[in-house]
Amino acid sequence: MKEHAVSKLDKSEKESENMANEEKAIIDPWGKELIQDYSRLIKEFGMEQFDSKIFPEPNIQMRRGIDFGGQDLGQISHAIKEKKPFYCLTGIMPSSEKIHLGTETVVQNVRYFQDHGAKTFILIADVESQATRGVSLEEGKRRAMEFHIPAYIALGLDIEKTSFYLQSENKKVSNLAAICSQKITENEFRAIYGSVHPSKVMSAFTQMGDILYPQIKEKMPGVIPVGIDQAPHIRMVRDVSRRLKQEYGFFLPSALYGKYTSALDGAFKMSKSSPENAKLEIPEKDLKAVEKKINRALTGGRATKEEQREKGGEIEKCMIYEFAKSHFIKDDKILAQMFEECTSGKNLCGECKAKYGVPYAIKFYEDFNKNFEKAKKLMGKVKFVE
Ligand code: TRP
Repeated sequence: MKEHAVSKLDKSEKESENMANEEKAIIDPWGKELIQDYSRLIKEFGMEQFDSKIFPEPNIQMRRGIDFGGQDLGQISHAIKEKKPFYCLTGIMPSSEKIHLGTETVVQNVRYFQDHGAKTFILIADVESQATRGVSLEEGKRRAMEFHIPAYIALGLDIEKTSFYLQSENKKVSNLAAICSQKITENEFRAIYGSVHPSKVMSAFTQMGDILYPQIKEKMPGVIPVGIDQAPHIRMVRDVSRRLKQEYGFFLPSALYGKYTSALDGAFKMSKSSPENAKLEIPEKDLKAVEKKINRALTGGRATKEEQREKGGEIEKCMIYEFAKSHFIKDDKILAQMFEECTSGKNLCGECKAKYGVPYAIKFYEDFNKNFEKAKKLMGKVKFVE
């Protein structure tokens, strides 16, 4: 536990002004916490800084720094290179009929691992949705079948290599949750999650059951690609598996963390409560609205045209570039052109939006909508465990 205890910040002069944040050094996976500084996070939470060189043929998210941290990825890299068995598992909350754009990153990572030999499991977190959001199990299942599973397929999941399940229908998961519940004290739980609310306890142990589930059949390393908000679950399941090691021989699960997706207005994290016009989700059916949102997004434009032609745009502030890099422009050459034409002052923001912003966003959503319709027809081929 020690290794993972929420550490106090160094009280260096610079950071002392941030002391107000010290209390918040807990990521609440169900909350709206903003994480301002990823490198601080890596240090504080004992994560590894992600280095895309450890994996063969790293994907876009890995190469572009959207995946920024991880846990114990050496064992996964080893399994890939040595062609040893390993698994990849992640979960979907059926809490609404939309998914966060950041989920696209998770799906691309799952696809990467399944292309590199992972046995893949995707679960529907219907128990968690019931416990934390009050979504009935029936409704959760309906949404998963009609929307979430086809959406994941549309985003690029390989269904031949994926096994799905619903938390509520997987008895082995609940049994594992019970086993895990013996290995954590109330204080440890509170230190990690900041609360011991029963719905959080219920969900957290179910999630631990999920993460260890593939190892019931076969002891092997596993990687959990998730957004950074899931880090507390990873910490806890690693502690628990360490404590269960002697009895059960579990490998400690590894994780790969993606950054939060910002909102189009520049807010650090796009969330349900972001203003409608600053938010892009999956799907977006009204492409005119997408165009409007992109056109209104925060950019790195300078005070005057002349200044921008001379100095170039401040691309690090530009949300259109951020979204292009994270989701919409997959071709490195085109992204490099967008970068160059902005920072050299060749394109002003309006020109850039018309050339790189709007068309690629629209294309992304058109492709998604098309692939989603195709994916719905493939539902008969989707494999469920047991
Ligand atoms: N808690 C996750 C979320 O909010 C969903 C989830 C449940 C999950 N079990 C999991 C994610 C296991 C990864 C691994 O999205």
